[in-house]
Amino acid sequence: MSINQYSRSELALRNGQEKSEIWIAYKGVIYDVTNSKLWKEGKHYEHWAGQDLTEELEDAPHDTRVFDKLKKIGKLV
Ligand code: HEM
Repeated sequence: MSINQYSRSELALRNGQEKSEIWIAYKGVIYDVTNSKLWKEGKHYEHWAGQDLTEELEDAPHDTRVFDKLKKIGKLV
């Protein structure tokens, strides 16, 4: 069984500024938003990629269905 696991510092490198990949985490799962027009350069409204945004989702006008079509990168450990 192989589940990719990444630390917070590895996630932080995918904030849209350092590397080409752009990732976000929600409830321990890391999602790929690299190709999302809504996460250009790592920014989504006032939120930045490369971190755990579990608590911030409460302020969003949408629910978790926005994650449905995203590729899962792995687990945040
Ligand atoms: C001020 C807060 C936020 C605003 C105004 C906002 C607004 C939006 C809007 C308008 C969309 C388009 C689709 C839809 O409405 O269903 C969207 C998509 C999305 N949002 Fe947010 N959002 C906010 C916070 C967040 C947070 C905190 C997260 C992550 C935990 C998030 C993750 C996403 C994702 C993954 C998508 C789908 C992107 C795609 O499919 O290309 N949003 N958001």
